[in-house]
Amino acid sequence: MTQPRPPAPAPAGPAPGVRVTDVDVEDVDELTRWALVPATGFMEPRPSAEDVAKRQRRVRGHRLLGGVVGGRLVGSLRSFDTELTLPGARVVPANAVSSVAVLPTHRRRGVLTSMMRTDLARARERGQALAVLIASEAPIYGRYGFGAATEEATWTLDTTSSRLREDAPADAGTVELVEAAAVRAQLQAVHDGARRARAGGLRREERWWDLVLDPGAVSGAWDARTRTVLRRGPDGTPDGYCTYTTTESSRGRVSTAQLRVDDLTATTPQALRALWELVASVDLVRTVRAAHRPVDEVLPWLLRDPRAAQRTGQDDFLWVRVLDTAAALGARGYDAPGRLVLRVHDEGGPAAGTVLLDAGADGVEVTRTDAEPDVELAADALGSLLLGGVDAALLARAGRLRARDGAAVPSAAALFRGAEVPWCATEF
Ligand SMILES: CC(C)(COP(=O)(O)OP(=O)(O)OC[C@H]1O[C@@H](n2cnc3c(N)ncnc32)[C@H](O)[C@@H]1OP(=O)(O)O)[C@@H](O)C(=O)NCCC(=O)NCCS
Repeated sequence: MTQPRPPAPAPAGPAPGVRVTDVDVEDVDELTRWALVPATGFMEPRPSAEDVAKRQRRVRGHRLLGGVVGGRLVGSLRSFDTELTLPGARVVPANAVSSVAVLPTHRRRGVLTSMMRTDLARARERGQALAVLIASEAPIYGRYGFGAATEEATWTLDTTSSRLREDAPADAGTVELVEAAAVRAQLQAVHDGARRARAGGLRREERWWDLVLDPGAVSGAWDARTRTVLRRGPDGTPDGYCTYTTTESSRGRVSTAQLRVDDLTATTPQALRALWELVASVDLVRTVRAAHRPVDEVLPWLLRDPRAAQRTGQDDFLWVRVLDTAAALGARGYDAPGRLVLRVHDEGGPAAGTVLLDAGADGVEVTRTDAEPDVELAADALGSLLLGGVDAALLARAGRLRARDGAAVPSAAALFRGAEVPWCATEF
């Protein structure tokens, strides 16, 4: 069996001339120097004292790393503890990596590599089996063992043809326009229920809500044009919400207004239908655009004219890095029983080794083994497989998964397939 190409070797320690340092969130001068790095990398304004104070409140409890070259802080990386939902609605701890940047004057000399090695090694030492991130550019993170594991889609709806089918799920629940800040706890409870139920779901920290509800935020917040609708089920319990922003426009006296769905979350099919029905029928709106949605969005299936809802964009979203192969594979659920010996290549990394995955009706057991593998793959491909959204047969066709014989690929595909396409609705 030819080996799949492993990610780049990851020997311990920083690159020559690079030092990795912990940044003290309470030290305003240090935090100001650090904050300049992601602001520069992400093309944001130089952070003011007020921005730094805000950031300080928001990143308390997070781990801030700096990459230092010649005594100057030139790299930034932030990580924090979160929870990720795996197939079978299993919620597991994960290390979320964000704010990754290196000053343009010091790129391509191993600063990111040094910070990433440090952060992932520490996550593993803490006992975390997984790390996650959202990649600004797709070629960056495979070398560190991250694989794209969820996708997001943009949907565009023509409201002139958006009548719902008679059999679309319905109940006697209500929808009500609310002030988002006043119902924060209800919005959080709805999101928490939804993210726990579907693979790819991530816990939203208080920080996430602070940010979207911050009236003084530079960007990313729900602003004065944003409207929030809370949906309650027949017994009065909130089971969905939607935030949307409308933009007025017209051709002569004919309205061409647009509605952008900012966040739409529901825990029941009835709530999902009610919220889609609402945004599809706002007067004067001709086009509804919803980004960061699941690729298997229910919307076209609710419509009499499914072509009124078009998938107009699709991208990778959440990337997963397995830090402990046995723990990660043992943590998820498997719908179909099966036995598979997997060899993971992760040179110098923590996921390397061969395991027997035995999934049965009573649960799953993952044990180290010396047996010959049925399939071999690199750590990044394992990250892509874990949430059940990437087909093992597809990885095999791309040369990213190698099988001992023809039967191993469909076995791996059947074993890893999730009941639902994984989806992550949380930017971080
Ligand atoms: C992405 C970024 C952090 C990389 O930092 P860096 O210190 O230059 O990275 P390193 O020197 O450790 O790179 C390690 C390897 O990754 C490659 N690499 C790094 N960034 C890459 C990119 N954007 N595209 C392709 N390859 C990249 C390097 O070429 C290098 O490969 P090599 O070892 O084969 O030479 C930096 O370019 C940056 O700040 N970009 C703007 C902000 C951003 O996009 N951040 C990421 C947010 S998710």
